[in-house]
Amino acid sequence: FKKLTDLDLAGKRVLIRVDMNVPVKNGVIGDDTRIRASLPSIEYCLKAGASVILMTHLGRPTEGEPKPEDSLAPVAARLSELLGQAVTVAADWQAGLPLAAGEVAMLENVRLNKGEKKNNAELGRAYASLCDVFVNDAFGTAHRAEASTHAVAQFAPVACAGILLAAELDALGKALLAPARPLVAIVAGSKVSTKLTILEALADKVDQLIVGGGIANTFLLAEGKTIGKSLAEADLVDDARRVIAKIRARGGNVPLPSDVVCASEFSDTAAATLKNVAEVTADDMILDIGPDSAKVLADIVAKAGTVVWNGPVGVFEIEQFSHGTQALGEAIAKSAAFSIAGGGDTLAAIAKYGLTEQISYISTGGGAFLEFLEGKELPAVAILGARA
Ligand code: 3PG
Repeated sequence: FKKLTDLDLAGKRVLIRVDMNVPVKNGVIGDDTRIRASLPSIEYCLKAGASVILMTHLGRPTEGEPKPEDSLAPVAARLSELLGQAVTVAADWQAGLPLAAGEVAMLENVRLNKGEKKNNAELGRAYASLCDVFVNDAFGTAHRAEASTHAVAQFAPVACAGILLAAELDALGKALLAPARPLVAIVAGSKVSTKLTILEALADKVDQLIVGGGIANTFLLAEGKTIGKSLAEADLVDDARRVIAKIRARGGNVPLPSDVVCASEFSDTAAATLKNVAEVTADDMILDIGPDSAKVLADIVAKAGTVVWNGPVGVFEIEQFSHGTQALGEAIAKSAAFSIAGGGDTLAAIAKYGLTEQISYISTGGGAFLEFLEGKELPAVAILGARA
C-alpha cells in the first residue's frame, strides 16, 4: 500500500480515518491513548501544508438516532488541547467542509450515518468527495469493512496508510511473519472458545505457547489434572489437546503451571492458598499461577527472540491473585526480545505495573490485534493494498 509519508500534501484536503473510539463517561475521557496515537499523522499533514478532516466512530450507537453521549465533542476538545489548535465537529458535512491549510475538523461520529456499518458505497463516495487524499490510520478498526474504513478507500482519489497504521502492521509483521526466534506467545483469558482460532493459528508458528486464566485451566483439564471449581470449558479439552500436540510435533512446548494460587471463591477478600497443581481439590478455584510457574515462564521469556502478549495469567485486579501477571510482565519488560502487547486487559496490566516504556510495541488494537494473530486479512488494509 501507499504510505502517507511518501505523498506530497501541500494544499491538499486530507481525510484521515482515525480510531478515537476511547472510553467516555459523562463527557470525561477515561484513557486518551488512542487520541495521542493518532497525533503523528495529523501533525505530519498539517506541517506539510494540508487541511485535515478526521473521521472516527465512538461506541456502537444506533444509526440515524444521535444521542448526546454519542457525540465526539469531548474527543475533539481533548484533541484540540493536544494539538494546541481548534478542532471543530461537523454534523452537517455533506455539502462540503471548506478548510484552509493548517485547519482541522472532525466529522461527527460516523456510526450515526446510515450505511456506515454496512459499508455503503454511496456513503463511501460522500466521504471521498471531501478529500484529495484519504488516509487510513485506524488500526483498531482495520478488521471492520465499514464505509469510513473500506468504501471510502475505493472512491477517494488517493488512498494510503497513515503513520500509526503502518507502524502497527510493521510491528505485528515483525512479531509474527518474520519473528526472531524463539517466538513465545502468551494467550490468556477466560475462555478457550473466544480464542481457539488464535490458538490454532499460533500453533503453526510459535516455539512456546504460554496459556493463562480459564484457557490454562482447560489445558490442565486436557492433561488430566484436577482443577476443581476453576473456570474452564470441559467440552474443549480435545481442541486443547490438538493445539498442544501440534506445537509439540514441531518441537515446541506449551508450559502449563506446576503451582497455582487458589481460593474457595472469586472475590477480592478471598484467602489465597498456594498449591502444587497435584494438590488442587474439588473445592478449589485457580486464580493465578504460583511463583515456581512464574519463574519458569520468566526464564522462557528471557531467552525469547520475540514475545507476543495477549491476556493476563491471573486475576491481576485482585492483589492476592496479581503476582503471576506482574512477574510475567516484568520478565517481558526485562527481556531483550522484541515484545508486542495488545488487548484491553493486557494494556491495563502493563499500565498498572509501569511497564509501558519497556514493551517494544503496544498495539492500539483490540479486535484488530486478535484478528491479526488469527492470521486473518484485515479488510481496511486489503483495500489500501488494492489501491496501491
Ligand atoms: C475497538 O475498540 O476495538 C475498535 O474501535 C472497534 O470497535 P467496534 O468493535 O465497535 O467495531
